[in-house]
Amino acid sequence: MSVILVIYATGEGQTATVAERIAAVFEDLGHDTSTMNINDRPADLALREYDAVLVGASIHAGQQQSAIVGFARSNRDVLSTRPTAFFQVSLASATEEGRAQAATYVEEFIEKTDWHPDRIGLFGGALRYSKYGFLKRLMMKQIAKRTMSDMPELETSGDVEFTDWNEVEAFAADVAAFVDGRLAVTSPTTNETETDE
Ligand SMILES: Cc1cc2nc3c(=O)[nH]c(=O)nc-3n(C[C@H](O)[C@H](O)[C@H](O)COP(=O)(O)O)c2cc1C
Repeated sequence: MSVILVIYATGEGQTATVAERIAAVFEDLGHDTSTMNINDRPADLALREYDAVLVGASIHAGQQQSAIVGFARSNRDVLSTRPTAFFQVSLASATEEGRAQAATYVEEFIEKTDWHPDRIGLFGGALRYSKYGFLKRLMMKQIAKRTMSDMPELETSGDVEFTDWNEVEAFAADVAAFVDGRLAVTSPTTNETETDE
């Protein structure tokens, strides 16, 4: 059994739901798993207490939440000593034409943080018009129009979820297998320096 942390940032809750689903898969596989919203993390969060760490973020206006970028950047030393994964939730990942854009968001994230996760998962997000205020709704209609030109019926309708839960579960199972394999041959060091923002 491994002790695993899934830490994430979310705007309207879709990445939180994805994090919970990933954690449920880990739990089913017998791992002791915690999920944590980055904004609720304790000041003394000790990453070295976890055998593996997953970091999740969503894309808003072309980038991941700055709290997650800062977290990955300031903890990359400790992250690099254990199995890690990054998952990203976006509208871009919901369509064939948007996939390259979603991959570009990840490349930019890696460039900014200099953290190189072992596994990367890209998942479609959700349109939550019922949760957006006037300006956000306007902005999202434009983003949906741009990113989802092959699904024009979705530009102005109500809440729609694009997350493929089978993909999320398959990703979690793959990461779990990777963690098992890595920890079978090497245990994480315990003397690294850890910082936080
Ligand atoms: C204000 C706003 C801006 C967004 N900008 C983008 C964007 O630039 N590219 C994209 O692919 N998705 C964009 N999205 C879609 C989100 O990534 C998607 O709704 C996702 O499900 C949000 O996850 P969250 O609820 O965990 O924040 C945006 C969503 C909002 C609300």
